[in-house]
Formats: sequence, structure tokens, C-alpha cells
Amino acid sequence: MGRTTLADNGLELNGMETLCQSESVWSPLVDRFGRTHTYLRVSLTDRCNFRCTYCMPKRGIEWMPSKSLLGDDEVVRLASVFARLGVTKIRLTGGEPAIRKGFVELVGRIKAIPGVEKLLMTTNGTALRANAERLHRAGLDGLNISIDSLQPERFKTITHRDVLSEVLAGIEAALEAGIPVKLNVVVMPGVNDDELLDFVELTRSKPITVRFIEFMPFSGNEWKADKVFGYREMRSVIEAKYALLQRDGEPSEVAKEFRIEGFKGTVGFITSMTEDFCSDCNRVRLTADGRLKTCLFLAPKNSLRDMARTGSCDEEIAAAIHSGLQTKWAGHPPMGAWKQYDNLSMVQIGG
Ligand code: 5AD
Ligand code: SF4
Repeated sequence: MGRTTLADNGLELNGMETLCQSESVWSPLVDRFGRTHTYLRVSLTDRCNFRCTYCMPKRGIEWMPSKSLLGDDEVVRLASVFARLGVTKIRLTGGEPAIRKGFVELVGRIKAIPGVEKLLMTTNGTALRANAERLHRAGLDGLNISIDSLQPERFKTITHRDVLSEVLAGIEAALEAGIPVKLNVVVMPGVNDDELLDFVELTRSKPITVRFIEFMPFSGNEWKADKVFGYREMRSVIEAKYALLQRDGEPSEVAKEFRIEGFKGTVGFITSMTEDFCSDCNRVRLTADGRLKTCLFLAPKNSLRDMARTGSCDEEIAAAIHSGLQTKWAGHPPMGAWKQYDNLSMVQIGG
């Protein structure tokens, strides 16, 4: 591939200075709309040991060949470049990140990068019973665990795996290891909307956050507007029984969070469909094969992996990240129009 040019990145260098000697690339990741990006989500694999209906396309997926995935050293190098660009928070996603060989060691290496203050992981929870303690020791700061039903049969219908008890044991193991836990529940009408109160009840005695997520459209997941159980509707179901008290979050926190008097945990809502949070977006993504993705709903762009593999210096990669970010939109495409954008499936993005 061609090497990144200075003009590509709008950078002005003095005299004979080359990009690789330039300090000017190490400026914060600010896009055209003034949003500073401090949060990187890295997909460690596009594969998963579950087959969640809302995430995996029915037609199947062409998995990335393993040599196209970023290797551990490449993940660490690219994460370090992002950290030098002001990223302070990194989340590891998948597919299922825990099916990657050596993921615990990778957690330790990423946590050791200067500037990385918070390292988190989103997982389906099946690997936690065996690994929670090691993850804690490696420095993991938090886990988001997907769990869409507390009923074994239904859990199996949604994920195509009969492992609810394993996931519940994984949640316990994470709490025992002292890792903060959030549960991700994608709420779908007629599928699991009758379990909202059961999930809220979990927060009575456990210091966890349960986050109810509106179903979002991704390639191949058969999304329809009437499959969205909206934020307002969720709240009215919950507020029929509990008083939700507002908590103030960071502006870039995607979840609206509430507490309930006397409960140890909290309840949140991710309202991507009915009340988006694009104007406060501070996230960028790296796909498992090293492409930069500036928005959850748009196709990935330039391959940082290819740059790394063809000898680009860190400054050139940093400049490419800056220029990629300048293509980010102010918001995502309108609800009905998303299909026409060439996005990946959710399992390839990792949330
Ligand atoms: N809509 C909303 N959330 C989704 N997730 C996966 N697919 C979808 C979808 N179509 C969530 C899961 C998982 C995280 C990676 O993304 O709850 O926790
Ligand atoms: Fe796997 Fe998570 Fe997708 Fe389910 S939602 S198939 S657990 S990546």
C-alpha cells in the first residue's frame, strides 16, 4: 500500500522534517465537530462461541482468516499509538474476546501502556469462572457481560447455547474477584421484555449495573422498527414497580443511569434508537483485522494493520488515525436508512 502523505493528514511540517520525526502528530483526536476521542474499542476476534440471534447473521459469516487478525504485538503497538494520541480508556470486544488465545496476558500488556487508565472488556461471560481472578490480577478494571434472559430455556433460544448457569457462575466469579460488573440486556418485544423486573431485582442485593439496550440494526440481523422495545416503554414497565432516581453521569456515558432506594446496584438504559448520543461521542474502534472504524454504524476505513506491516512509523499511523477521524459524521444515518450503509455485522464489530 502507499505510504501516508503529509497532505493526506493536513499536517504542516517545517523544512526537511519528515513525518516520522514530527511531534505535531501527537495532538488530541479531535474531529470536525469538536469531539475529542479518548475511548478506543478493540475487537480481539470476530469469532464467538455463541450464536445470538440479534448479533450473528443467519446466513453465516465469512470469518477473518487468522493471519489477517492483528497479532498481540500489533494490538499492543496500535493501542500505544492511540494512548499517545490521548486515549485513556480501552475496551476489548469481539466476537467473544475471551476465545482469543492468551487474552489474559494481552490484558496485562495493554494495561501497562502509559496513559491507559481504564481497561475494560465486553464478554458473554463463559470464560469468567476460569479466568476472573487472573483478569483482576492482570489489571482489568471492569466487565460488561451480555445476558438477555435469566430463564435457561429462553437463554438457549436466544444464544443457541445451553449455558446460562455457566454465565451466572461467571458473573459471581467476577464479583468475587473484585471486578466491577455491568450486565448488557438487549430487550426485544415478545422475546424477553417480560423479564425487565427480574433483571432489576438482581440489583437489589448485588453491586452490579444492569443496562437495558435497545435492539439496533446491523448487517444480517433482521432488524425491524417493531422489534425495538424503546426506552420510554422500558421505563414505564419498571417505574410501575420501582422509583428510578436519576444519577449524573459523564456526558459521554452512553447509558442513562438510575438508582433505586436501598438497592446495591444501578439500572441503566442504552437508547441508541430513540435518543442517540452522537453529539457526545468520544469513541473510535479498531476491528480485529486492524481497520479504523469511526462510527458503530458505518463501514470501517483505513487499515492500520497494513501500515504497521509495511513499515510505517508510529507517527505515520497516528497521522492516518487523525485523517480517518476527519471522515466521522456528526451523527449516524437515520433509522430507516441504515441498511444502505455497508456496515459489518455486530459480531464483527463487538459493540
Ligand atoms: N442491538 C443492540 N445491542 C447488541 N449487542 C449485540 N448485538 C446487538 C444489537 N443488534 C450487544 C450485546 C453485547 C454487546 C457486544 O453488544 O448485548 O453485550
Ligand atoms: Fe457472541 Fe456477544 Fe454476539 Fe452473542 S452478542 S453472538 S455472545 S458476540
